[in-house]
Amino acid sequence: MSDQDAARAALVQGLQDDIAREYQAIIQYVIFSQKLDKAQYMNIADQLVEHAHQELNHALAIARQLDYLGAYPVHTPKTVEVSEDNEKMLWADLRAEDNTIKNYRERIRQADALGEVALAEVLRGIVKEEQDHQIDLATALGVTHDDRIRKEKEPK
Ligand SMILES: [Fe+2]
Ligand SMILES: [Fe+2]
Repeated sequence: MSDQDAARAALVQGLQDDIAREYQAIIQYVIFSQKLDKAQYMNIADQLVEHAHQELNHALAIARQLDYLGAYPVHTPKTVEVSEDNEKMLWADLRAEDNTIKNYRERIRQADALGEVALAEVLRGIVKEEQDHQIDLATALGVTHDDRIRKEKEPK
């Protein structure tokens, strides 16, 4: 396998992981948007409904890119985290967004390195929305949105 082929295979595998994370996000947002019940979180609950729609759009966009690259999209979500506790739900979503953003940044570097400019552009549009999700969740929790500089720790 040439270096180019190996890089392309790694990109496709990364996108498969990305779409599995999108499925996970859809499920968590569908459930948590309805299960948040503290009065102070009603605003973020409404935002989670919007997130759910956007995650579905991301999954569709990644599926289209996988198809373009000749790959069949996976159908299994990454492990869905559930809780009855309001703060635990929001932290689970925030951690997932942190991880998603880190992965999309890496995917953009991979796509750019391969000259996949259209894919890189699609990914840049997605990561912009993921950063908005991260801000919404961090704001609701009263913590720093950028996990690279966040000092606040998730309560045990
Ligand atoms: Fe997403
Ligand atoms: Fe998101």
